[in-house]
Amino acid sequence: MSQTCVIGLPTETKDRERRVALTPSAVASVVDRGHRVLVQAGAGEGAGFADNDYKEAGAELVAGPDDVWAAEVVVKVKEPQPAEYGYFRPDLTLFTYLHLAAEPELTRALVESGIHAYAYETLTERGLLPLLAPMSEIAGRAAAIIGAEKLSAAQGGSGTLMGGAAGVPPAKTLVIGMGVAGTMAARGLRGVDAHVTGVDVDLQRLYDHHLDGTIDATQVSETAAVAAHVRDADLVVGAALVPGARAPVVVTEEMIATMRPGSVVVDLAIDQGGCIATARPTSLSDPTYVEHGVVHYCVTNVPGQFPRTASAALSAAVAPRLLRLVADPTDPALEGALNVADGAVVHPVVASTFPDLPSRA
Ligand SMILES: NC(=O)c1ccc[n+]([C@@H]2O[C@H](COP(=O)([O-])OP(=O)(O)OC[C@H]3O[C@@H](n4cnc5c(N)ncnc54)[C@H](O)[C@@H]3O)[C@@H](O)[C@H]2O)c1
Repeated sequence: MSQTCVIGLPTETKDRERRVALTPSAVASVVDRGHRVLVQAGAGEGAGFADNDYKEAGAELVAGPDDVWAAEVVVKVKEPQPAEYGYFRPDLTLFTYLHLAAEPELTRALVESGIHAYAYETLTERGLLPLLAPMSEIAGRAAAIIGAEKLSAAQGGSGTLMGGAAGVPPAKTLVIGMGVAGTMAARGLRGVDAHVTGVDVDLQRLYDHHLDGTIDATQVSETAAVAAHVRDADLVVGAALVPGARAPVVVTEEMIATMRPGSVVVDLAIDQGGCIATARPTSLSDPTYVEHGVVHYCVTNVPGQFPRTASAALSAAVAPRLLRLVADPTDPALEGALNVADGAVVHPVVASTFPDLPSRA
């Protein structure tokens, strides 16, 4: 890429999405390196950053999406929405969350356009996912709050209070996938004195979390054992991930049908297709539905409702990698991020999800 790169920062268009990918102070550090940053007017407003803050940071304000998508590199938060597919072109680099395993139409549009699309969620560093982790941390914390709220009778739940009362046991909660999101959900649930069982395929992870007191009990991810826990649970939080792949379905529909009416599931893994069989994507405008008497909350952009914290956390992780991307797209620090390039899927796990699309994995 050129020494001086033109970087575009659009306003997010997903339902009630209020985050922005770069804060004004991150923009200042990008401008300091000699790049031009085009900020769509109002892009930071939902997160509390005024257009003037970006101007003072050295950005150029542009009026609408046409101008900002004309940049060489577009950096954003959520996967492009259908109205944005028309902006894809071969000489454009896109750096954002993509979650392609759950987005066949987007994947096809990216492939057909010839664009270079780098996904935050598959960038891998020392076995970790540093661009997914900040939002998983926030979504996990939020899941505990949302789960507790949805269990109230006023919200259609069974009327169970997380911490119970003297002589009444606490709510039983089950967290599927004890990675970043699952750990933060468990911490939140323990914080309100719920009983928390952590489920994972990674026994070392379960051992560590049990030992450090994040969870009350552990359960290896085996169907029959998980079924017994689901039947008894007031709240199930889904947070299992195999990077790049469709989420493993750990909780079946038959298991959900055994839950008490008014129990709740919060499936964070819905952005990768969901790890609960009855989960289907919902929006911040219309976040829940009831199936088999169980309240389902399956919002794909949970951190979007905490835009101030989430934008600052995302920007801190994205800005240094954006600088590496514009300096050298083949930088090993970007390992795993490139999903689609030059008309083909190039990430091996994503490619195996879409065997009908051209691949160079
Ligand atoms: N809905 C949202 O708004 C939102 C926001 C942020 C993150 N997420 C999603 O939350 C999910 C979890 O993200 P993370 O950062 O915590 O991932 P992570 O990699 O840190 O943790 C995933 C965990 O799942 C475990 N796992 C894998 N297969 C399993 C199985 N069959 N049974 C049980 N556990 C299994 C892994 O061992 C790991 O511990 C991802 O899909 C992520 O995209 C959603």
